[in-house]
Amino acid sequence: MTAHSPSPHASLTAEPSRALGGTIRVPGDKSISHRALIFGALAVGETRIRGLLEGEDVLATAETMRRLGARVTRHEDGTWSVFGVGVGGLQEPAVPLDFGNSGTGARLVMGLVAGHPITATFIGDASLSRRPMGRVIDPLTEMGARFHAREGGKMPLTLTGAPRALPVTYRSPVASAQVKSAVLLAGLNAPGVTTVIEPVPTRDHTERMLRAFGAHIETKQGKDGLEISLTGEPELTPCPIAVPGDPSSAAFPVVAALLVPGSEIVVQGITLNPHRAGLYTTLKEMGGDIEVMNQREEGGEPVADLRVRHSRLKGIDVPPARAASMIDEYPVLAVAAAFAEGETRMTGIHELRVKESDRIAATASGLRANGVKVHESEDGMVVEGRAGAVGGGGHVATHMDHRIAMSFLVMGFAAEKPVTVDDGSMIATSFPDFTGLMRGLGASLVGQTQ
Ligand code: S3P
Repeated sequence: MTAHSPSPHASLTAEPSRALGGTIRVPGDKSISHRALIFGALAVGETRIRGLLEGEDVLATAETMRRLGARVTRHEDGTWSVFGVGVGGLQEPAVPLDFGNSGTGARLVMGLVAGHPITATFIGDASLSRRPMGRVIDPLTEMGARFHAREGGKMPLTLTGAPRALPVTYRSPVASAQVKSAVLLAGLNAPGVTTVIEPVPTRDHTERMLRAFGAHIETKQGKDGLEISLTGEPELTPCPIAVPGDPSSAAFPVVAALLVPGSEIVVQGITLNPHRAGLYTTLKEMGGDIEVMNQREEGGEPVADLRVRHSRLKGIDVPPARAASMIDEYPVLAVAAAFAEGETRMTGIHELRVKESDRIAATASGLRANGVKVHESEDGMVVEGRAGAVGGGGHVATHMDHRIAMSFLVMGFAAEKPVTVDDGSMIATSFPDFTGLMRGLGASLVGQTQ
């Protein structure tokens, strides 16, 4: 067995389950958690964070902030404090920075380091070492950073930040909040205005949090897309952060409740930021009974509770323009589509091929292993729904991808026969208590990981 083979002890099996019921909270939003630690490290003084996601990806970012000179502590009540060093104040790390499975952590911190005159080496696991970094290497090189990367712009790589970063105007060729955020993070320590032009708007947590920390950031619609302009060299002031529940994690219990007959659950306190809520719109269009309750604003993000009841779903065409707002949710949507009546067509999602795994290929082969027909194209897939009668009984290869693992476990709760995923250990990157929480709702999961 090689170091990256899934451990035979980490397989997990989801069994056909009785009706799910209960009220839950899902862990804190992963995107917001990474950013809270990073902006906390750049503010002068203490940033207090409530509801931080304590998944492996975010813990790797916390450790990185320590290596770069910030003091990061966890209190007994589960809140966290970051004592930042100020924009421009990061220190050179003595050891390589290890991001594990996390593309978000790695790419955002590349932006951060690029704006400081320090050198750092970025390492990660086999999945992260396969993912493209050229998309951040290109703009950050324009801003004055220097990279030594593996062939094809892959990690491990070593980055030397710019002695004096250049503010740029960068039109991102990919719809990626990670690229936008990396450029803005480098722009924080550049004299002048750094502008990112997004052809398609992506999640805006960086912009919201930068404003909350006192940076001057303006957004306007230009002829080539949304223009986000940041004035460099601000003094960032700490601001308390309440991290809302992660809609990408909530997707798993929500879809499970839609699929398992007789279910009714409530998921409390998730962000329905419009750049993140595409899955919920889509599931409602498919006939999902999802009631949005108690809409409110918390920590600068729109937040709500969801009541979800078992529903008969129908297949739809998912508009490609919606892709950015549900980019991490296509695998679990494909599982929902397998139970729907009719075809569900997903297009404009070629970015799924460069996530923690090639999610189009991994999803399609997981569906086939469970008796569901799917047609794969370069930038999409069409799932032939089985109107509630999915055979299951398959063994699914997760390719070190937490969302592939959770999606097919959800399938197993509602299929006729159990579904096994080869490796459940990666679930801890984003949703540490997934198995406990699903069991609490009444789902049946057997395995040896958690
Ligand atoms: C994220 C952006 C998305 C998403 C990822 C988190 C972020 O990636 O898939 O899970 O926090 O900025 P891309 O920016 O590559 O689309």
